[in-house]
Amino acid sequence: MDYIKEIAALIRLDGAEDSEIQAALTPAAESAFGDYSLPCFKFSRALRKSPAEIASSLKNSLSDLPAFIEKAEAAGGYLNFTLDRAFFVKDTLEEIFEKGADFGASDEGRGKTVCIDFSSINIAKPFHIGHLGTTVIGAALYRVFKKLGYNVVGINHLGDFGTQFGKLIVAYKLWGDKSDIERRGLRALVDIYVRFHKEEESDPKLTDEAREWFLKIERGDAEAVGLFNFFKSITLEEVKKTYVTLGVHFDSYAGESFYNDKMRPVIDELKEKNLLKISGGASIVDLSEYGMPPCLILRSDGASLYATRDLATIFYRKKTYNFDKCLYVVAYQQNLHFKQVFKVVELMGYGFHKDLIHVAYGMVSLEEGAMSTRKGNMVYLSDVLDKASEKAYNIISEKSPGLKDKKEVAEAVGVGAVIFSALINNRIKDNVFSYEKILNFDGETGPYLQYTYARCNSISEKAGIDICYSKNRGIEAREILENNSEKSGIEACKISENESEKSGEKYGIEASYLTDDAAYGLVKILRRYPEVLKAAKDNYEPSYVTRYLIDTAQAFNRFYIADRVLDADKGLRAARAALTKSVMSVLKNGFEIIGIKPVDHM
Ligand code: ARG
Repeated sequence: MDYIKEIAALIRLDGAEDSEIQAALTPAAESAFGDYSLPCFKFSRALRKSPAEIASSLKNSLSDLPAFIEKAEAAGGYLNFTLDRAFFVKDTLEEIFEKGADFGASDEGRGKTVCIDFSSINIAKPFHIGHLGTTVIGAALYRVFKKLGYNVVGINHLGDFGTQFGKLIVAYKLWGDKSDIERRGLRALVDIYVRFHKEEESDPKLTDEAREWFLKIERGDAEAVGLFNFFKSITLEEVKKTYVTLGVHFDSYAGESFYNDKMRPVIDELKEKNLLKISGGASIVDLSEYGMPPCLILRSDGASLYATRDLATIFYRKKTYNFDKCLYVVAYQQNLHFKQVFKVVELMGYGFHKDLIHVAYGMVSLEEGAMSTRKGNMVYLSDVLDKASEKAYNIISEKSPGLKDKKEVAEAVGVGAVIFSALINNRIKDNVFSYEKILNFDGETGPYLQYTYARCNSISEKAGIDICYSKNRGIEAREILENNSEKSGIEACKISENESEKSGEKYGIEASYLTDDAAYGLVKILRRYPEVLKAAKDNYEPSYVTRYLIDTAQAFNRFYIADRVLDADKGLRAARAALTKSVMSVLKNGFEIIGIKPVDHM
């Protein structure tokens, strides 16, 4: 049930639309003010009445309240609504059980397409920890939009164009060892690339040669293109392993080189529209009027630039996908680049420039300091994931030596910890990466969430009750007879309506057992999940989901201390076990969005 909508429907205010009332209704700031409040000052100008007068006359107009509201009170300029707790609990838990993995889903995006350009790694360069942000933020947004019914296109806009490939060819021809590269992959390529930069300093001839080889790639010379494709396949093979570990998927790998033959029409159009100026031999779009440096389109030697390729990309994507929005999950260092490129699209007269959105994020640094490919001190993301899993393994071995599947659990925890660390803060914030911080089981971390989930699971298992749901009968408990534990895990066991009594006694769940502050507070948080997903989408901010999951886990842990599940009598135990299962279900949904795996035991 949509409580805001239902409450708004009870309120009649002259001249105020239903939608205005819905927008004004907010969750109450404190429990003393009930559950939802209508701040009446918002209407006092239009109605020429004081907020207090409005609140009290509204209160008087509410004669018989529906079952879901316990009371309505006017206090100061507010009209406060207190819900009937048992009604709310029953309704919310039933919705969670009924919808399962679809709790939070919607079809608001039906018929709309969103392109998300994310990860967008560079060929023959390390996939390093600096790419963590774009990769996991982009992947989380991908899943958020999908859940809300959008058609989503995930694009890895590969950096596969530029003079560095000429350098790599020269380096490969001088020092490359094919079998070493096949064996050590990307790392062997990076080694020769680093060596090139060292030797180039004392031997400038190398730089010229590199330029020539790059031109050969551009001209389609067979040897040059063959080597380039070899480097590309080595890189992709390796990064795809990391994508599998992270659970990330792309619908397209069309990178910069794909747009090689798609820039000409854009350049012609810029010319036609009188936007192209020559400055010092280069072709630019002057943006001084907008307080920005010029957008470089062609260098004086005629070569295209990063911005030129991005412009071609935009028109290609619009034509191919007809997107409603195109997001770029790229570090804030590129703020200016995207402002310039989007401005050029606007100046070309395309209204859809406003659908191009740079979703900027902050930098990760390591405690040890800055990285650079040229110098060769890069921290590979795959190494970070391995190391986090290894450390998680040590922690888990100490905490639960007898645990089965320790290795799988440690990988889920280690990888989850790394993913979570890039999603917990507002995305624009810079972040210092530390293993100790991300693997703290008691902090605001991935392991804390997984631990809470495993705790819920172990309570569910020990409760000795199956919690079942069917549309006609609602949530029911069924005693598990000895040696007959048919079900655990979180899927509500859907029972058929005329099922024979194959196990123990069955009884309904009494929602009034879940109306104390700890249980009710937890249910209120569970109810918020669909709103949270929507807000994450509206703000392109996966941290709304991670924060929410932390709130949920903390509320569960408060509930679990206040309201013991296992020591309680049958009916009470069943109600609390049902709430515990609902928590697992919502946690699992949120985990899936952010890309961390639930573990049943840890
Ligand atoms: N490869 C670029 C980099 O590593 C990011 C590309 C972002 N996407 C784009 N369409 N410009 O900096």
